[in-house]
Amino acid sequence: MAFQLQYPSPFLLLLLLILLIQIMPFPAIAQTQKNIALGTSLTAKDGNCWTSPSGDFAFGFQEIVNHGFILAIWFNKIPERTIVWSANGDNLVKKGSKVELTEDGRLMLKDTSTVAPIWTADAAASGVAYAAMLDTGNFVLVNQDSNNLWESFSQPTDTILPTQTINHGSTLFARRTPSNYSRGRFLFTLETGGDLSLRITNIPLDYVNLLYWPPTGTSYNGFQVIFNQSGSIYLAAQTRSIIYMISDKTVSMEDYYQRATLEYNGVFRHHVYPKSIDSNNVKAEHVAWSSLSFMPSNICTSITWYAGPSACGLNSLCKNDEEGPVCLCPHGYSFVDPSDELKGCRQNFVSQSCDEASSEDLFYFQEMQNTDWPLTYYEHFNNVSDDWCKQNCLNDCFCAALVFKEDACWKKGTPFINGRIDPTLSSKALIKVRENSTDARKHDSSTFKRIEPILLSSSAFLNFFLLFITCFLVLRILNYRKANANMLYPVIQGINLKCFTYTELKQATNGFTEELGRGSFSTVFKGVLASDNGKCVAVKRLDTTVGENDLKFRAEVSSIGRTNHRNLVQLVGFCNERQNRILVYEFMSNGSLESFLFGGSRPSWCKRKEIALGTARGLLYLHELCSSQIIHCDIKPQNILLDDSFTARISDFGVAKLLMMDQTRMATKFRGTKGYAAPEWFKSLPITVKADVYSFGILLLEIVCCRKHYEAKMEHEGQMILVDWAYHCSQQSKLHLLFENNEAKDDIEEMEMYLKIAFWCIQDNPAFRPTMKNVTRMLEGNVEVLTPPSPSSLQVQWK
Ligand SMILES: *[C@@H]1O[C@H](CO)[C@@H](O)[C@H](O)[C@H]1NC(C)=O
Ligand SMILES: *[C@@H]1O[C@H](CO)[C@@H](O)[C@H](O)[C@H]1NC(C)=O
Ligand SMILES: *[C@@H]1O[C@H](CO)[C@@H](O)[C@H](O)[C@H]1NC(C)=O
Ligand SMILES: *[C@@H]1O[C@H](CO)[C@@H](O)[C@H](O)[C@H]1NC(C)=O
Repeated sequence: MAFQLQYPSPFLLLLLLILLIQIMPFPAIAQTQKNIALGTSLTAKDGNCWTSPSGDFAFGFQEIVNHGFILAIWFNKIPERTIVWSANGDNLVKKGSKVELTEDGRLMLKDTSTVAPIWTADAAASGVAYAAMLDTGNFVLVNQDSNNLWESFSQPTDTILPTQTINHGSTLFARRTPSNYSRGRFLFTLETGGDLSLRITNIPLDYVNLLYWPPTGTSYNGFQVIFNQSGSIYLAAQTRSIIYMISDKTVSMEDYYQRATLEYNGVFRHHVYPKSIDSNNVKAEHVAWSSLSFMPSNICTSITWYAGPSACGLNSLCKNDEEGPVCLCPHGYSFVDPSDELKGCRQNFVSQSCDEASSEDLFYFQEMQNTDWPLTYYEHFNNVSDDWCKQNCLNDCFCAALVFKEDACWKKGTPFINGRIDPTLSSKALIKVRENSTDARKHDSSTFKRIEPILLSSSAFLNFFLLFITCFLVLRILNYRKANANMLYPVIQGINLKCFTYTELKQATNGFTEELGRGSFSTVFKGVLASDNGKCVAVKRLDTTVGENDLKFRAEVSSIGRTNHRNLVQLVGFCNERQNRILVYEFMSNGSLESFLFGGSRPSWCKRKEIALGTARGLLYLHELCSSQIIHCDIKPQNILLDDSFTARISDFGVAKLLMMDQTRMATKFRGTKGYAAPEWFKSLPITVKADVYSFGILLLEIVCCRKHYEAKMEHEGQMILVDWAYHCSQQSKLHLLFENNEAKDDIEEMEMYLKIAFWCIQDNPAFRPTMKNVTRMLEGNVEVLTPPSPSSLQVQWK
């Protein structure tokens, strides 16, 4: 964006300086220099680093919160500061430790307390003249003749970059968890003999346990794995001819950062990240690492080992997903360590004692479709019914679960090994759970444990956001003169939107006095337009610290203004005057769905049903029918308003994008609307329309049950989380408990169907959730609603 600044005042310069100082925490003390001279050192402090000439990569220290500092190389221009190499993942150092390029040319990492170095770069020969962080991401020690004596590229950790190769005898080790860089369970190796393979190690010992790629019977013998300049990754022969193509989906190197990483979950994945939001029309909400290709294609089914943990830990179930394997706990079980799901699940109830006379009333079976532990069992029956098997299992204190398939059943004991959920499995699992188990209670107490690390890890985003706001403020200030001269924008062409002046809106709202509501980045006031026959409007004032440049604001406003649907709140106009960003909407006389549902009397099912349908249709329009797709990002009862005839109208759409809250939203928005946010928000996964489907699912549950998704004041703890309670009741065919005789008998069947639809919408895996089109058709009764898959996937969010 071009701006003119003819006479910068001292005040402006001072302000700029202050703002620049505020930016400092983000790149911290980065020194851009080509060659690092002998005798130079860096002290461990977050972000203290040497950057490459372009600034794309940095070598230095990152803080692993609460644990210490890691000496690493990372992508330095993206907020995540993704680490691609590290020296001391197993052995973090304290603040104040040093990495030094000694006078005699050795690169050493020394902790504050020990004399012996924690790590040294072993240069092949002496004679190092200087070190350098190159623009490829390679950190090198170089001699007088410009030969590399040591390079980080030949000592990879878990990642390779374009132009890097894996040579004979080289191994990538997966890290332990996404944020724990010590050695994990998987490795990717090109053996000295030339065999390329992915293997599981016998952690904590390093020896290799099992090969899971390539499939047994195949072997690839090569010379080098090459990640070439245009982004292809392949196993090559000595002649550089391709033996096996690992990833040939390429993107432009100019527009994308790339890396290939052996992830903590054992999947080797080629990732890309757009270098700038503006190039390629990348949508802001999609700025994150995304996957180009990966192997093996399904790690859950590739691991065929009858002992030890597999892709997921003991007792867990592995479900394959485009984003990698997802580990789940069966009903009645929960993660041993929620911050390391690969550690497996533990039982939340007391196992059946062999002294217990009859277990019939004490245990029930939780059914899970397409689930099996195919490699282990201790007893097997043919030609039997599932009822017979259940009875048999109840009378057997060793039996912890059953797998039933085509008139045959297999009895399983704990720990369950190598479990998976896969659509190709035609078996169902029946998990034996103690009737009064306390699993619901355990869910609750650990709800917050999961969130904490997520918030911490997003502090990089916060920094980025701060930087962004600061830059924005600077630009706004510099732009002041220009904006002054060009204060009133013309009405956007082709759309029936009015451009208001600030004074006009100030008058209409009586000086912004009657507040209707407040969001994290805006406040809504009631207004009366004198110019328009006293028409009532809702005036949404965005906080001045958020927004984008004027062009973008206008682009977003016009995309909101272009929408027109009977289930959306219509935008009437806007104001974009200096720092004032205001949106003017139709006024909705009957308030929000929140007060309608949870206010005084219980609204009729007929009315609620209509509201659910209306909301679904409005969302369908936003996702599929309007000119440019809009992801709402914040569907909740407060954002569904009711007009004169109690028709549901979605409000606040398009605002997420307008406020550029894509990434920071995780941290800032989460607190207020926790229960509605899809799991993707907490996993830094790309946000798609399916995130809205998830939120709609929660909303639908609330509409059907007429209560909030979370209520602390319930008689039993099992009832507090609506999702769990509703699922429990519908599984056990005890809907009367859920509705407490508040509903007409004739309606119950339909409500049950709506519950099923809601459970489809809140599947953990976005791919399993229906589109809004299908949701609408199901709600309308035009397609059959199948029984939704197990809710154990819900535990991921609720734990
Ligand atoms: C990483 O995981 C290992 C094994 O669980 C643990 O010993 C270590 O303390 C963890 N390190 C960090 C930084 O969390
Ligand atoms: C990288 O490899 C692909 C596949 O062999 C090839 O098409 C491409 O030209 C190569 N690029 C470079 C820069 O060598
Ligand atoms: C299993 O059932 C089928 C038909 O129901 C019968 O023909 C067959 O003999 C039975 N097999 C055994 C082992 O009982
Ligand atoms: C749950 O069951 C155990 C024995 O199976 C019993 O001792 C305990 O009192 C029960 N708890 C509740 C709350 O019913």
